[in-house]
Order: sequence, then structure tokens, then C-alpha cells
Amino acid sequence: MIEVNNVSKAFKKQQVLADINVNFEPGEIVGLIGPSGTGKTTLIQCILGMEHTDTGWVTINEKSIPNRKVLKDIGYMAQSDALYEDLTG
Ligand SMILES: Nc1ncnc2c1ncn2[C@@H]1O[C@H](COP(=O)(O)OP(=O)(O)OP(=O)(O)O)[C@@H](O)[C@H]1O
Ligand SMILES: [Mg+2]
Repeated sequence: MIEVNNVSKAFKKQQVLADINVNFEPGEIVGLIGPSGTGKTTLIQCILGMEHTDTGWVTINEKSIPNRKVLKDIGYMAQSDALYEDLTG
């Protein structure tokens, strides 16, 4: 289970996430939908611990994020530049 609690995040003066509270239950398939620039990727990066949150906290299976041990259970495909095009099998 993923718990997002009171998460806020700004880049300089631009507030991107404002007091986000959401839980994701085991087995759920969730889509984050919204116009470009509204913070979908930023939220995912905060959940993974790739970005620090300004306020709030995230837990995955009751473990506080960031947590390197939790990362081994997560598959994350970034939206771009995710693959090395010149890498062979
Ligand atoms: N590392 C960063 N430094 C500064 N600004 C950033 C950074 N990452 C994201 N932003 C800004 O934060 C806002 C939200 O970006 P984000 O990439 O989270 O949006 P998104 O909803 O995933 O957009 P898209 O639908 O285009 O993927 C944008 O205005 C973006 O320019
Ligand atoms: Mg995005």
C-alpha cells in the first residue's frame, strides 16, 4: 500500500504539488490524468523518493520513503529517455 500524506512540492516559486493526500491500495491500477505540467511526474518522483518533498511524507508498505530497500520492489519506466537506444542484447 502507498500512502501519500500532505505532500507539497515547489520548484523555486512555482508550487507544483499542494497538500496532496492519496492512498493506493494493493491490486489497484491507477492512472494519473491531467494537462501537461500539472505535476503527475513530480508526484511519482516524490513517491519513489527521487524528489524531496517540501512538506508531508510518503510510505510504501509502511516504510518511510526514501528507502533504497523498497526500490527493489518497484518498476519505474520514466516517460522519456528511458532506454539506451544503442544498447544491444
Ligand atoms: N526538476 C525540476 N526543476 C524545475 N521545475 C520542474 C522540475 N521538474 C518539473 N518541473 C516543473 O514542474 C511542473 C510539473 O512538471 P511535471 O513534469 O511533474 O508535470 P507532468 O504533469 O508530469 O507533465 P507531462 O504531462 O508533460 O508529463 C512543470 O511546470 C515543470 O516545468
Ligand atoms: Mg510527466
